[in-house]
Amino acid sequence: SGKRTFTMIKPDAVENGHIGAILEQIATAGFRIVAMKLTQMTKNDAEQFYAIHKERPFFGELVEFMTRGPIVAAVLEKENAVEDFRTLIGATNPAEAAEGTIRKKYATSIGENAVHGSDSDENAEIEAAFHFAGREQF
Ligand code: CMP
Repeated sequence: SGKRTFTMIKPDAVENGHIGAILEQIATAGFRIVAMKLTQMTKNDAEQFYAIHKERPFFGELVEFMTRGPIVAAVLEKENAVEDFRTLIGATNPAEAAEGTIRKKYATSIGENAVHGSDSDENAEIEAAFHFAGREQF
């Protein structure tokens, strides 16, 4: 068993039909799915989840985007999960993302960037607990 990270396939990638391809790439990279569901964040959920960004100029746009349709929320396990997952998804801005990364292939802009990945082990645990009860994590 390894460490865990939290991910969301964001509304843009769900709308564009990329759930299957993204999950395939995640599985091929060696991540085990610990928890997963299709869900939609409320405005209140998104404001809480992204509270750290609330003074940023893009906060309103971010909350609007993340609540406009369903997402896939998931907890993933692998050795070095947080760092390896961030390598797999690529830079926040798809224009700067490395070739072959999930954001390079599926993101459309810095805001609508297809996937989320936790930035630390501590945040992974907080974010997983935001979306999943303990008994929903296998
Ligand atoms: P993520 O890193 O998953 O979480 C914060 C999100 O804020 C980020 O993905 C982007 O979706 C969004 N974001 C970051 N920078 C900008 C920006 N300059 N303009 C719009 N959205 C942004």
